[in-house]
Amino acid sequence: MTSPLFELGWRGGATEARLHRRRPGGDALPWGTLDLARFPAHHGVEARRIWSNGVFTEYASAAAFSALTTAMLECGAPVDLVAMSADIVVDELFHVELCSRLTMELGGGVPIAFDLAEIAPLTSPGARPLLRAAEIAVTTSCVSEALSVPAMARSRALAEHPLVRGVLSRLLADEGPHAQLGDWFLAWAAPQLIGAERAGLAVLAADTIEVYAPLWRDAACDACPIPRGLGGHDDVGRAALRATIERGIAVPLARHGIALDAARVAALAAA
Ligand SMILES: [Fe+2]
Ligand SMILES: [Fe+2]
Repeated sequence: MTSPLFELGWRGGATEARLHRRRPGGDALPWGTLDLARFPAHHGVEARRIWSNGVFTEYASAAAFSALTTAMLECGAPVDLVAMSADIVVDELFHVELCSRLTMELGGGVPIAFDLAEIAPLTSPGARPLLRAAEIAVTTSCVSEALSVPAMARSRALAEHPLVRGVLSRLLADEGPHAQLGDWFLAWAAPQLIGAERAGLAVLAADTIEVYAPLWRDAACDACPIPRGLGGHDDVGRAALRATIERGIAVPLARHGIALDAARVAALAAA
């Protein structure tokens, strides 16, 4: 049996118009100006892989913030904080659109085998809504979004083409607040958590960082060039990711009594 492929649909018309009223500016980006002949062919192929993966991660982020929104509603989180989480879902869907359009301009998406029924984040079985929301806030906002900011910032610094830079700028402008939401949620939620729950969240945070470790650990190989001008990042980006583990993740979580194991953090951040 073949596994299902990640594929997206677009309705257009009134729903597209509504999204673009809420998230204007996408059409003003310099679409149709990317001259792929200026880049080595293998960079174009790698750029398609990077941006196809980008579409997928933006889509998965929409699912994660959607699940976070529901869990926040179920635990009675402050209404304006829940509204921010719901609004981030629309940010991520807009990012899906921008990344998809860029991927098409690069020559089209590469197939990704994934069953969308698995897209929502998993939480501990039987966890109460407060803990469920805290788990998703930690994995999605405090770790994943916190790491995406330096990776994207480095990609934008290296991007030569106005379209690639424009898409990255638009994405990056939103990711800062996405990384902030988890911190604001924990400021409200952490005092209601018991010690064992906070300890579990600390392990979960470290486990999630570990999932991303190939981003700064795997050496680039000849077969997978980093298309700098088209959205890849480099050793400077890897160093920024490693620095974020302590400064951008462990330190802010510790303020909420979620203390990551210092030796494990040091090992994760090691070059
Ligand atoms: Fe995003
Ligand atoms: Fe995001």
